[in-house]
Amino acid sequence: MDHFIYQNGALCAEDVPLAQIAAEVGTPFYCYSTQTLTRHYKLFAEALDGVPHFICYAMKAASNQAILRTLARLGAGMDVVSGGEYARARAAGVPGDHIVFSGVGKTDDEITQALQGGIRQFNVESEPEMQAISRIASALGKTAPIAVRVNPDVDAKTHAKIATGKSENKFGIPISRAAEVYAMAASLPGLQVVGIDVHIGSQLTDLAPFEAAYTKVAELCESLRAQGHDIQRLDLGGGLGIPYSRSNETPPLPRDYGAMVKRTLGHLGCEIEIEPGRLIAGNAGVLVSKVIYVKSGEDRNFLILDAAMNDLIRPAMYDAHHDIVPLAEPAAGAEQDTYDVVGPVCESGDTFTKGRSLPRLDTGDLVAFRSAGAYGAVMSSEYNSRPLVPEVLVNGSDFAVIRPRPSYAEMIGRDVIPDWLMEDDAADG
Ligand code: LLP
Repeated sequence: MDHFIYQNGALCAEDVPLAQIAAEVGTPFYCYSTQTLTRHYKLFAEALDGVPHFICYAMKAASNQAILRTLARLGAGMDVVSGGEYARARAAGVPGDHIVFSGVGKTDDEITQALQGGIRQFNVESEPEMQAISRIASALGKTAPIAVRVNPDVDAKTHAKIATGKSENKFGIPISRAAEVYAMAASLPGLQVVGIDVHIGSQLTDLAPFEAAYTKVAELCESLRAQGHDIQRLDLGGGLGIPYSRSNETPPLPRDYGAMVKRTLGHLGCEIEIEPGRLIAGNAGVLVSKVIYVKSGEDRNFLILDAAMNDLIRPAMYDAHHDIVPLAEPAAGAEQDTYDVVGPVCESGDTFTKGRSLPRLDTGDLVAFRSAGAYGAVMSSEYNSRPLVPEVLVNGSDFAVIRPRPSYAEMIGRDVIPDWLMEDDAADG
């Protein structure tokens, strides 16, 4: 459930008509709902009620400072995967000991930054990385809390580009080698083993692969404890999927996920950490866009929008489906047309969907891409020199621009002209 609902014929974000925001901010823009973000966070908290737990929002899904603050106020920690994300989390007021650092390629600088600023745990993905953390922590006179990310070789049954738990993926250490890697961790200075980490992929719509992976983690936990390792925490990653198509998708709910987690891992007495991103932010955001033209092709209609692949890359990159709805509620039985929905970018890949049946639309009409809150704005770019898409946050009847659209001058002003080209100008002049 989300808070983007028609009220009096107008699609609203909570109590604010999206068309009103469009009139003030211009299109395209992303809009997020505070109530939906809050609701989704609380669903996970309730799902894990009864076991010690900690929810680290995977901020790669949507990392605007206002979103991070909204979640941090509820008690969320953050799962970060770069020095930039670490800095964003700290800037949003998240204490270091609420931050988990994941990712396969942490640099010396990033490790140093996290050790100096404070860290809940590094999720270690390789032996060389473990050696680097040990070396840097020792040099700084610190102890680095670590969990080893194990790769359980489980098929997450999701899109190949976002599956991470098979042995062919670059992530984690093969679970078959876990014992020797934990032994190595125990022998290195500057490290404190605190747990085990696993993340098998994203947009999972079935609990079975999670359960298969967590069952392997439970066995590993017991055998590592028998070998003398103090396993206190299990970080289960993120990955729970959301319904992108309202009409035909019903992925498991956080409470089903929570019940499965308790069933497979509850007896171990560990603190359960999770790293949800998409389920918190995905249906808490929409991308609003305007129809520029409707163009008749040889055998089809093209709905040409002012949003493009640079603003929302998921359809081009993962063949992802997003429901598209008009901001003005269509009358019951309104005429439908079939459209290829495209953006203005000069690539055929700039196609959001083909052959989609939608209420008839015309130049100037406004539409919303639903389920665009996760992996939307964060993956946007200025390709074709289209200014970075702005972001808006709604809270009840209030809204605020939380990232403004850069002007052309600001966009161009980031480029630096080297001296020799300036001199040319002077010579010409
Ligand atoms: N933890 C780790 C270690 C991850 O790699 C990820 C996502 C998450 C947590 C959060 O997963 P979630 O709960 O959001 O499924 N850009 C792609 C998704 C990439 C996911 C990458 N890792 C998309 O638009 O579908």
